[in-house]
Amino acid sequence: MQVIDSLKEMIHLSRNWDKNQKIGFVPTMGALHTGHLALVKQSLESCDITIVSIFVNPAQFGANEDFSRYPKTFEEDYQSLLDLGVDYIFLPNSNQMYPQNYKTWINLDAITEVLCGASRPGHFTGVATIVLKLVNLVRPTLMYMGEKDFQQIVVLETMLTDLNLETKIVRCPIVRNEFGLALSSRNRYLSDQERMIAPEIFKAMQALRASFRNEIIDTSELLSQLEKSLVEKGFKIDYSEIVDSATLERVKLVRRGDRLLVAVFLGNTRLIDNMEI
Ligand code: PAJ
Repeated sequence: MQVIDSLKEMIHLSRNWDKNQKIGFVPTMGALHTGHLALVKQSLESCDITIVSIFVNPAQFGANEDFSRYPKTFEEDYQSLLDLGVDYIFLPNSNQMYPQNYKTWINLDAITEVLCGASRPGHFTGVATIVLKLVNLVRPTLMYMGEKDFQQIVVLETMLTDLNLETKIVRCPIVRNEFGLALSSRNRYLSDQERMIAPEIFKAMQALRASFRNEIIDTSELLSQLEKSLVEKGFKIDYSEIVDSATLERVKLVRRGDRLLVAVFLGNTRLIDNMEI
């Protein structure tokens, strides 16, 4: 496994990919857990070469968010990727990705202004910009992304299509712990007590899904029940919505195949989750 920390080297490598080979790419911000590693395994199974990038992208964090304390565990990340048999780790730094006088940002209409985009202004501009830069540097055939960040996938698929890029996203299912909590690098911020409460998000979402049995139901009724049960457990609601899974537009009456998305605070930690109805 080779660590590439220069853009020049990455460009040299990617401009010489063998056209007959499938190049799999897993962009991450490090602090890798089993959820990240599931994406890596999928790439290793289906592609000839697998590259994992680790870059904590300052542009996708808001002023009051956790950029400066975002967990960094490079030694462990390196070992896990080596054990799996990854070919390359791409490890750029901020000065390379955003040199002085950096000016170019990728904005998408509408779909970046709802859900997480509404509570984290500018977040998806940061995500879209860095992912476009990474895709241009790595030139992958397939990019493996987790449905944990459902809106992120929809935003990035839209960007790839709109900008006529050839890279395709492979959607990977959410990996959860034994209690149903979606794995996240941010889970390590949780106290022991919060860790016991956190799986209630998944339980509340499952309860909502179970209460929908194909009959026509007003979304707001279902969501107010879900929010009530989460508030009782000690969560603060950022948002809960049921949306059309392709357009991310809010739906009034629920149909199978719609997507339930939830963002809550537990103490100071923001947790997101989602599920198909
Ligand atoms: P990060 O949060 O490190 O996540 C990297 C990838 O791992 C994303 O595609 C995310 O959806 C996936 N992932 C995280 N937790 C998961 C889980 N429990 N199950 C399945 N997949 C999971 O997402 C980012 O980084 C950044 O926004 C990035 C795309 C790298 C751009 O900076």
